[in-house]
Amino acid sequence: MLRRALVAALAAALLTPVSATISCDVGSQCPEDSPCCSAYNVCGVGAFCLGGCDVRASHDLKKYPCHRGPVCKDATYKLNSLDDVQSIDKYLGDASDINWQSQGKPVIYEDSLLLTMAEGTVGTLLASTHYVWYGKICAKMTTSQGKGVVTAFIMMSDVKDEIDFEFIGVDIDTAQSNFYSQGVTVYTNSANLTVENGNTVEKLHEYCIDWKPDQLDWYIDGDKKRTLMRKDTWNKTSDRFDYPQTPSRVMLSLWPAGLPSNAKGTIDWAGGEIDWNSPYMQNGYYYARVSEVTVECYDPPPMVQKKGSKVYKYTDLKATNNTIEISDDLIILGSLYATGEDPDFGATTASNAPKPTKSVETVPGGNPGGGNRDEGQSSAAAAVQATASGGADSPAATGASDNGAGGGQDFVQNAGGEGSGSSLVEPGLGRISGSALAIVVAVLGLVVV
Ligand SMILES: *[C@@H]1O[C@H](CO)[C@@H](O)[C@H](O)[C@H]1NC(C)=O
Ligand SMILES: *[C@@H]1O[C@H](CO)[C@@H](O)[C@H](O)[C@H]1NC(C)=O
Ligand SMILES: *[C@@H]1O[C@H](CO)[C@@H](O)[C@H](O)[C@H]1NC(C)=O
Repeated sequence: MLRRALVAALAAALLTPVSATISCDVGSQCPEDSPCCSAYNVCGVGAFCLGGCDVRASHDLKKYPCHRGPVCKDATYKLNSLDDVQSIDKYLGDASDINWQSQGKPVIYEDSLLLTMAEGTVGTLLASTHYVWYGKICAKMTTSQGKGVVTAFIMMSDVKDEIDFEFIGVDIDTAQSNFYSQGVTVYTNSANLTVENGNTVEKLHEYCIDWKPDQLDWYIDGDKKRTLMRKDTWNKTSDRFDYPQTPSRVMLSLWPAGLPSNAKGTIDWAGGEIDWNSPYMQNGYYYARVSEVTVECYDPPPMVQKKGSKVYKYTDLKATNNTIEISDDLIILGSLYATGEDPDFGATTASNAPKPTKSVETVPGGNPGGGNRDEGQSSAAAAVQATASGGADSPAATGASDNGAGGGQDFVQNAGGEGSGSSLVEPGLGRISGSALAIVVAVLGLVVV
């Protein structure tokens, strides 16, 4: 939920109105030198071209600047260490090496992973590096508690098909289920599911999404709670089934719906503004615990075009189930300056290695685990901006990122920033041009208002 609200929070948090940031949307594609459209509708390179890169709004599909999603992998993830988690500013697309990508600050506690949310941050997102194109996906987890605090377990595709479990911190006996087709908000898609023997905060419950080409079921603790039939979702206007039908990542997130800078509808939905001195916080943060995620892959649809076995690739901007092929066209970026069109760009550390000649954005901000919910706020995005001559592989960058220990972006929120939701902002790094440190600051989000 709330890509947009989060984005507004980020916008409020950061310092300088941007001139360089380029926004994108379906019908308004990114330019050639900044070709990848992120989940937040901002153009960039590097991490913008990986998970969340929306082919519909990116530069020319024929040149294919976006990555292609690594295919589904059957797995049981115990999530009892961060060894298999890489922060978004490090991951370059090699899913054979790493199964989870993070934004924010995941923390290991006993045998579980905690999604944390401290004051001034947009929480934590964990996203799978492998995609699922139909399958059964389950998470054993607890939720956080308190006004304005939302825990989520969702499936989300790069073209914004989405299947949700969402937990509002003021109702610890209910899971809200939802689905979206290509990011279009339809409020009647939401349904409340009762959690038997309640208390989502203290008890580990198992939530499952059973997603087949023609039927989608939501389960809680083994009980089927809701069914959606594909045949019931035909939409004449959009000329497609409004049914999630594109390869999707597993996402787990904790995010602040109740920030004063968010739309009123969002804050109300989440039970009010967040109390940052809440008894529900510990060690200075809200948290939700994820103890296990399982993925059981179903066969790809029988009609699918199979040209290989490694990745899912879109063949048409319509982005429906019949426009995806399975190919071997895996992309691993050489650097955060590279794109799917030129994956090796910047891979070498030689001093004469090519570097961008102008500012480009390389790592998207925010917490897309919020998903697509749109409470009417204008679209905006905050993304870090790397300067042209800094190298992500410089010693300063490496050292500082290591200190980040799997953490990501802790953007500071400016409570007085309401109204800046529609402005695209960046941390003013263009001013500190040429400094690798600027990139580090951006990536780790040490941006203080
Ligand atoms: C779900 O429950 C919440 C209260 O927890 C309520 O505000 C909302 O309207 C309900 N949604 C539906 C679709 O019934
Ligand atoms: C059908 O699709 C259109 C265009 O995406 C959307 O505005 C509308 O809300 C959809 N209708 C329903 C009933 O979902
Ligand atoms: C797409 O969905 C339609 C409707 O269910 C189905 O007939 C068709 O076989 C599907 N195509 C692919 C490639 O999955």
